This record gives sequence, C-alpha cells and structure tokens, in this order.
Amino acid sequence: MNEDIERILITEKEISERVKELGKAISRDYSGKDPVLVAVLRGAIVFLCDLLKEISIPMSLDFLSISSYSGQVQTGVVRILKDLDQNIEDKYVILIEDIIDTGLTLNYILRTLKARKPAGVRVCALLDKKVRRIVDIPIDYRGFEIPDEFVVGYGMDYEQGYRNLPFIAVLKEEILGK
Ligand code: XMP
Ligand code: MG
Repeated sequence: MNEDIERILITEKEISERVKELGKAISRDYSGKDPVLVAVLRGAIVFLCDLLKEISIPMSLDFLSISSYSGQVQTGVVRILKDLDQNIEDKYVILIEDIIDTGLTLNYILRTLKARKPAGVRVCALLDKKVRRIVDIPIDYRGFEIPDEFVVGYGMDYEQGYRNLPFIAVLKEEILGK
C-alpha cells in the first residue's frame, strides 16, 4: 500500500489537531441544541469517529449513503442508497463529509434534508477542494483546503482501497492511471 503513495498531503498529527479544534467549535456552537450528526457513508466515517470523541455535548448520530464516484470519474447521478433512520424535523443537523469537490453531491443532500424542515442544517467537511467548485456550498466547519488532486486515506478511497491509511495522501500516477 505504502509503495503506491506519491506523497503525504496531511499528516496524522495535523489531522488530529484540526479535528480537535472542529470538535471544540461544534461543542461550543451547539450547546443545549442536541444536534444530529449525519455522516455521509462511507468516506466520512473515520473523520466522524475521531470528531465524535471531541464533541463534549449531548448529540445523536445518523447515516446517509449516496451513490457517487466510481473510480475518479463522477457519474453525475446522485441517488440515496440509504436514508436517515430518524425524523429530523425541528432538529439541528450537522452534515459530516470527507471532501467537497464540485459541491454537486452536497448540494443535492442539502436540498433533500432542508425539505424535511429541520431547525437548521450546517456542513462540516474535513477537506475542501475549492478550485473545483461548481455549486457554491456554505462550509460552516472546514478542516483543510486542498489543491486539485485526488486524495486517499483517512476514510477516503480509490476503488475502495486505501481507506485505512491514517493520513491523507496522493497516489502515484501509475496507480491512478492503471
Ligand atoms: P462533489 O464533486 O459532488 O464530490 O463535491 C464529493 C464526493 O466525491 C468524492 N471525492 C473524492 N473521494 N478522493 C476521494 O477519495 C478525492 O480526492 C475525492 N474528491 C471527491 C467524495 O466521496 C465526496 O463525497
Ligand atoms: Mg463522500
């Protein structure tokens, strides 16, 4: 696995420090609001697990699964594969995403969730590939802005592999091209 890596973009230590800060900010902003953290499967789960431990207020958890990339190519079709288990009407929702690229996926999810009349919906994304944005998405809690490169690790995959890397990395061109 490590021989496939071109370079590490964000180290384990940098991620952990940033996640702590995000957890503190959410705990402060949502005190008394009992928020629902909604993680988008599967890429966001490692981020979610670390973030949860840094949130010091009562909260609950739910999951959404949507169809998105196959390999590096975006299908353009966003479909809900697994919906939320709970009713979010009048609830404070925080959407947890691994990475925002064009913004198309999140735009669709936000529209869908807002139609259910939650008290509020905010976005918490670990990575922001800002230069690729097509739809303007407000990111309320953002880990890092990254350049236009395909990244893996810390939950993020290339053809389902590399999710278990503890850091965020760029793969060698020969791996992505093959
Ligand atoms: P959009 O373009 O809709 O895409 O904002 C968001 C989703 O695309 C996936 N994505 C990536 N996954 N490395 C990955 O492993 C990347 O560099 C990357 N860029 C986008 C991701 O699942 C995200 O939810
Ligand atoms: Mg994702």
